[in-house]
Amino acid sequence: MAVKKELLKELQTRREKVLAGGGQDKLDARRKKGLMTARDRLDNLFQPGTFMEFGMHAQHSCHNFGMEKKELPADGVVAGTGYVGDRPVAAYSEDFTVAGGSLGSMHAQKICDIMDFAQQSGMPVVCFNDSGGARIQEGVESLSGYGRVFFRNVYLSGVVPQIAVIAGPCAGGAAYSPALTDFQVMVKDQANMFITGPEVIFAATGQKCTMAEVGSAAAHATISGNIHFVAENDAHAIAIVQKLLSFIPSNNIMDPPHDLSQPLVLSEDPGMDDLVPEDGKNPIDIKAVIGRLVDNADFFEVQMDFAKNIVVGFGRIQGVVVGIIGNQPKFKAGALDIDASDKAARFIRFCNIFNIPLVTLVDTGGFLPGVAQERGGIIRHGAKMLFAYGAATVPKITVILRKAYGGAYLAMCSKDLGADLVFAWPTAEIAVMGAEGAVKILYKREIDKDPSSESSLIADYRAKFASPYQAAGKGIITDVIRPAQTRAMVAMALRNTLSKRETRPPKKHGNIPL
Ligand code: HXC
Repeated sequence: MAVKKELLKELQTRREKVLAGGGQDKLDARRKKGLMTARDRLDNLFQPGTFMEFGMHAQHSCHNFGMEKKELPADGVVAGTGYVGDRPVAAYSEDFTVAGGSLGSMHAQKICDIMDFAQQSGMPVVCFNDSGGARIQEGVESLSGYGRVFFRNVYLSGVVPQIAVIAGPCAGGAAYSPALTDFQVMVKDQANMFITGPEVIFAATGQKCTMAEVGSAAAHATISGNIHFVAENDAHAIAIVQKLLSFIPSNNIMDPPHDLSQPLVLSEDPGMDDLVPEDGKNPIDIKAVIGRLVDNADFFEVQMDFAKNIVVGFGRIQGVVVGIIGNQPKFKAGALDIDASDKAARFIRFCNIFNIPLVTLVDTGGFLPGVAQERGGIIRHGAKMLFAYGAATVPKITVILRKAYGGAYLAMCSKDLGADLVFAWPTAEIAVMGAEGAVKILYKREIDKDPSSESSLIADYRAKFASPYQAAGKGIITDVIRPAQTRAMVAMALRNTLSKRETRPPKKHGNIPL
């Protein structure tokens, strides 16, 4: 007994047809241009031989505009599961060679099916967006398909990580599916993303603009803040996704991939002392501090080109995966503004969902003053940070390096906002406002009478009211430590808080000021 040869032949013929996508010539043309095909992307994402395809033989049932005569292999989207490292991951990849990767009803159904599978099995979802958008011939069924995908994006949010790679065109409402995921990687030059492109903008408003200005990876990475990573090409985008996955758990009930196999090392790092400039006016480079704090200087920065006055990203500290949030005094003196608040709050919330401890490094003079900030809603945006930290129940470790003034002190995860442990360097200044401003208000008459007294009054204020010992004396600092002790103390703090459990009153969700 054996399977009939004709049946095997049919299976092989059908598979080959689907694997050829929109035709070998189209696949070859893409590769010649340096672009991966939809299947190349999945083959490169997954460990060889681990891809299990879902819905390879799916067919559309559209009868409009001569579509009944067209076979669309895999209906323009390749979906399935595979292994990234040793963990299963779900993915789908739109095939531009098949009807421009456009989304019709079956295309949408395949995406929904793989997303449902990922949610039920607790695995991350990676999607490669490369599509002309709603399949015009399928009319409202395409729109409805997008709606079903968006619903899944929301349903899965907070349950399994979702990562979108914008690898080609991503126009109109279609851009909202990647926007609903946790991280967006955009491939330079070959991808663009917009709600209304230059032509529609001109027709509707008379404003002239270029695609580079409104839809490019560079514009989204630096100005709109819509994306998290820019990739040079497909291979780089896939490497970014793999690296990101190496820091995050597969779902919200798992721990991130900590490596606790090594014993704690509590030796000091004198190099950290050297990072503090003697002159208080010279800024610390927070990235240099982070580089010494994380294992092997391996810091995976998120949104590195947006709101550079705050730095966020992933690393491991003696094996424990952490999300790091640090003011960057080299940009805007590390002040918190609208974009910095949005960037940090979103990152904090991601970490909290996926059980990733937060390490906060504070060196900020406060919220950025200015008409544009006030009119732009800094109160609402800044409140997102307070909300995100206040709501986070993961371990929260804060280190105050230098300035921690006013509302920004609170917004950078003070003890009162629920930090489990707060360390301060001897260089820390913790106060309602900077010494210069405070002295001008407190000693106005004295300074008017004798302007030369101002500098000694400032020094006196600093010593009496902004000293870390003053804050430690009030119980809002756990300990004052040498910079050289930071890595050891944070590592120990993390191990001590890893089994933290915090239960809050049941509710649907809080109302973060959006
Ligand atoms: C059906 C489509 C398509 C679409 C492209 N194709 N987009 N088929 N529906 N939306 C087909 C083309 O007809 C062509 O088929 C093949 O895909 C390749 O397209 P080209 O135009 O030859 O490729 P290129 O020159 O690279 O241009 C790519 C493109 C362009 C910029 C994406 O195709 C384009 O502008 N497409 C329309 C985009 C659009 O307006 N989409 C609807 C947006 S509204 P053949 O058979 O010739 O190879 C929307 C609403 C979603 O998406 C709302 C959700 C809430």
